[in-house]
Amino acid sequence: MAELAVNVDHVATLRQARGINYPDPIAAAVTAETAGADAIVVHLREDRRHIQDRDVRLLRQVVQSRLILEMAATSEMLGFALDVKPDCVTLVPEKREELTTEGGLDLITHQDGIREAVSSLKNAHIKVCIFIDPDLDQIKVAHKIDADMIEIHTGAFCDATTEAQKQKEFSRIVDAAKIGTKLNLGVNAGHGICYNTIKAFAGLTEISEFSIGHSIISRAVLTGLDQAVRDMKQLIKEL
Ligand code: PXP
Repeated sequence: MAELAVNVDHVATLRQARGINYPDPIAAAVTAETAGADAIVVHLREDRRHIQDRDVRLLRQVVQSRLILEMAATSEMLGFALDVKPDCVTLVPEKREELTTEGGLDLITHQDGIREAVSSLKNAHIKVCIFIDPDLDQIKVAHKIDADMIEIHTGAFCDATTEAQKQKEFSRIVDAAKIGTKLNLGVNAGHGICYNTIKAFAGLTEISEFSIGHSIISRAVLTGLDQAVRDMKQLIKEL
């Protein structure tokens, strides 16, 4: 069975919207682990829009499964990762103006820089995963520069609006997963996966882990709302 890595960035998004100290992504991580998450993921962005340095440092102490740090391969982030030592780093591209990660890393253009980042993280015994589009040439470079794993970008499939588009994008994911496995890379998948799109992956056993954030945190807001309103009603009743 594939594992589930739960991304708690958007708990921090909610906290940062008010600039206060709740909800805390650390508490969310503990709950996610209790519910069966196999790993906790956070993306420390250059602009610190959601996850803060403090969150990653605390998660390093608290997480009992595996801590996966998503980050750009900048010297600032590499220094931070080498200091905090997550179990795994997933290298992602990052643009300040984007709402979320928009595509996989272009390894063909950035091969030399990424190779150096992979090597320094691996020397510190941190596993390295590279987030890439389901593109065979990109996967071959990931193998060449000695990454441990790839995370296949599933966004184009999850966002596809027609059946034909969905099928085309999914077959790219299948081919990518098979080539990655053939090259002895670990194969993960993520971005945009929700409670509907996950069903398409039945039988694609090459994928060993799904990295999912927004849909889980979104569902938590709604499934938890009933109790949250009841609790506040009760407190008001007791005034
Ligand atoms: N994988 C990577 C590399 C990502 O950047 C993200 C978003 O932070 C995810 C997975 C999770 O995507 P989503 O929040 O859409 O589930």
